[in-house]
Amino acid sequence: MNSGQASSLPLKIPRHVAIIMDGNGRWAKQRKKPRFYGHRAGVESVEVVLKACAKVGIEVLTLFAFSSENWHRPAQEVQILMNLFKAALSSRLNQFQSQNIRFRVIGDRSGFSKSLQIEIAKAEVLTAKNEGITLIIAANYGGRWDIAQAARKIAVEAKNGQLTVDSITTEVFADHLSLADLPEPDLFIRTGGEQRISNFLLWQLAYTEFYFTDTLWPDFDEAAFILAINSFSQRERRFGRTSEQMKSLYRA
Ligand code: IPE
Ligand code: IPE
Ligand code: MG
Repeated sequence: MNSGQASSLPLKIPRHVAIIMDGNGRWAKQRKKPRFYGHRAGVESVEVVLKACAKVGIEVLTLFAFSSENWHRPAQEVQILMNLFKAALSSRLNQFQSQNIRFRVIGDRSGFSKSLQIEIAKAEVLTAKNEGITLIIAANYGGRWDIAQAARKIAVEAKNGQLTVDSITTEVFADHLSLADLPEPDLFIRTGGEQRISNFLLWQLAYTEFYFTDTLWPDFDEAAFILAINSFSQRERRFGRTSEQMKSLYRA
């Protein structure tokens, strides 16, 4: 049978998976509950997916938790999301240590309360030397913000004479973006049925494989995650080359 043959092939495992965790509000609405209920259930899915990633050997997991545009939501929902982030962070710190997880945040953290900024910095410093999976939370993150902050850093370096204008290549630019020291995402997943980027990683997704699912984030479990990995596994990434070139590269 076809499915049997497919599952007996070794899976191609992405090094870096980036996820837009969408659909918490609709999940709550389906249950006639307030949106908060969905966000809380969403935190549980983070746990499940993080575990599944570690199990299959993914090196980096980047999760979009709060976009630069999410500030436009009702103040009460924003407050609830901030509180959830802070509570999840402080309660998971021991787990990060025991499971060797390196934790990082990307985004403009100056928008957060001082106490949340301190909590984030503490978790980053404490887990910096861990060598297991790297968990990146994109919070108050926007792809356009990321590109603008890289341009600002480059402009300052050019002004100070640390680099010349002619030396600004795509590689130099990428070095100033968030995630510069990590492999680019191989697989992008968006749950919740929408097929858009919503200002997530713009530059970094240039050659990423996209996977969209209608499953709402709180329902996204290990089986749903494995379906995404299976889909990735069956794709041929060509990076501008021909299929024949890719095959001979693999043989080499
Ligand atoms: C994603 O779920 C979580 C955040 C954006 C913080 P949503 O809250 O966007 O859920 P839907 O899209 O309204 O269902
Ligand atoms: C994207 O989801 C942001 C996060 C999941 C954090 P949204 O629900 O905010 O995206 P739009 O508004 O539907 O594009
Ligand atoms: Mg949404």
